[in-house]
Amino acid sequence: MSNRTSKQALVWVLHGPNLNLLGSREPTHYGRDTLETINQRLQARAASENVLLETFQSNAEHLLIERIHGAPAAGVDFIVFNPAAFTHTSVALRDALAAVAVPFIEVHLSNVHAREAFRRHSYFSDLAVGVVSGLGAQSYELALEYALRALAHKP
Ligand code: DQA
Repeated sequence: MSNRTSKQALVWVLHGPNLNLLGSREPTHYGRDTLETINQRLQARAASENVLLETFQSNAEHLLIERIHGAPAAGVDFIVFNPAAFTHTSVALRDALAAVAVPFIEVHLSNVHAREAFRRHSYFSDLAVGVVSGLGAQSYELALEYALRALAHKP
């Protein structure tokens, strides 16, 4: 899956359902950047700190769950996760993150607190190291900055 050198930190960026449509999907909420553009920027930033960053998007809850289950064996140090609509529905994804105990930041492009009431509840926020919401693609970038700093100071 990757050419990881020993000691190189590994960050996973996971994207939930419908985020494959970024660029054309409701741009007033989600902006015009495609998922590929966002991923490329994140990868370049991580590489500049000699951190390996891998991305994964799925519209299927079980594929995200299975991916998270594999995080410890893959040696993942940090997860940046936009669960998208699963934020508001998925006890199963929450339980997967609790089970693997890999630190993660919850990310949203839109400000979920300024939209419909059902978006205000997240099954992830209380388990997350932090939540970044409403800053567009920069939500991912700022989450990654935190992760990079945390990993640089990891003993
Ligand atoms: C989202 C917000 C969710 O409420 C929504 O279902 C998404 C994207 C965001 O990035 O703003 O699909 O997670």
